Amino acid sequence: MSWIYKQPVEIIFGVGELMSLPERLLSAKKPLIVTNSFFLENENVKAIISELNAEVYTDVSENPDVTEVNRCSRFIKETGSDVIVAIGGGSVIDLAKAASVRSDDIRLYHGTGISVPTDRKVRLVAVPTTAGTGSEVTCVSVLSDRESGKKCPIVSDGFYPELAVIDPKLTVSMPPYVTASTGIDVLCHAIEGYWSKGHQPICDELAVSAATKVFRWLKKAYEQPDNIEARVNMAEASLFAGLAFSLPKTTASHACSFPITSIYNVPHGEACGLTLDFFARVNAKDNRTVQLAKELGFDTVESFADAIFELKKKVGLRTDLSEFKLTDENINELVKKSHHPNLLNNPVEITDEILYELYNNELS
Ligand SMILES: NC(=O)c1ccc[n+]([C@@H]2O[C@H](COP(=O)([O-])OP(=O)(O)OC[C@H]3O[C@@H](n4cnc5c(N)ncnc54)[C@H](O)[C@@H]3O)[C@@H](O)[C@H]2O)c1
Ligand SMILES: [Zn+2]
Repeated sequence: MSWIYKQPVEIIFGVGELMSLPERLLSAKKPLIVTNSFFLENENVKAIISELNAEVYTDVSENPDVTEVNRCSRFIKETGSDVIVAIGGGSVIDLAKAASVRSDDIRLYHGTGISVPTDRKVRLVAVPTTAGTGSEVTCVSVLSDRESGKKCPIVSDGFYPELAVIDPKLTVSMPPYVTASTGIDVLCHAIEGYWSKGHQPICDELAVSAATKVFRWLKKAYEQPDNIEARVNMAEASLFAGLAFSLPKTTASHACSFPITSIYNVPHGEACGLTLDFFARVNAKDNRTVQLAKELGFDTVESFADAIFELKKKVGLRTDLSEFKLTDENINELVKKSHHPNLLNNPVEITDEILYELYNNELS
């Protein structure tokens, strides 16, 4: 078997490392901080803004829309920013990645197959505040187009940040539900990265380590938000899982999450987690899924899938879509829209029949 591994992002990890940003950005002339408005109340973020004498941009929603990217692009051009520092969850980081291309209309590249130019003229630094997406080390930006009802990733080598500063202290303020939802996303990245058809050995090791940490630490981080040991372990898990899926790419759970999020507004991590145990059972035919279950300490794929289901319940996440009372028409739409290319990375072919079984029996 031959494989390639590449990871161009410089990674700095540690409690308190946020405060090292100014000395790392000495050459920046016009820094721009993209963040959620509530972080403007965070004493450390306030200090960073003042030390960097940075412009601030906070017009970012969850699952950011292509029009928000275009607005941020315009702001970057108008202010002449030379370094963007994205301090936030996947939504903030993905918006900053796409805006850093400074295109007139990002829709040109969204779900069209047209490649994003990789000669970015603005530097990008990513500082995650959730333990979730791993976006700080991936070449992916997931955007929504609310007008057309489409949510999908754009993949480009131009999206790798030059620097990721991971300070687990920033994740302490996550409310329990956000901790749970983003934490299940980590588990999906690890497991899907491992069983993806694009798997490779470095990513395998990172995936096993990340999944082990989630099974061990997510419930603690959910129950004890101030437990810094749990936050450090979840931040490491998120980083390792990001590295574990960035090259192999995600599979069926992420493919199904896109319509579940765009139609029913279920947040990203929870939407991915909804189908993870179902696809583990489907993938039980695949030798590598059997091997993954063993590496994580389970005797069978069944008990591995049961453990995923139990973890979701323990951290208060939904395990089905029953509250939406799905009609046959709703299910047809979900099946149709789940055919995102990531579905093709799944080790077992996912047919419409399997998707109908999922949405009719497991999620309805
Ligand atoms: N680029 C990638 O590689 C990648 C991978 C997976 C998912 N995604 C995308 O990332 C987005 C989801 O990102 P996310 O799961 O990190 O959530 P998010 O960025 O949407 O944040 C969720 C909510 O938590 C709040 N929040 C974030 N950090 C907080 C903190 N420390 N304290 C208090 N509140 C906080 C946010 O303001 C928001 O309201 C989705 O659009 C998803 O599709 C991207
Ligand atoms: Zn994800």
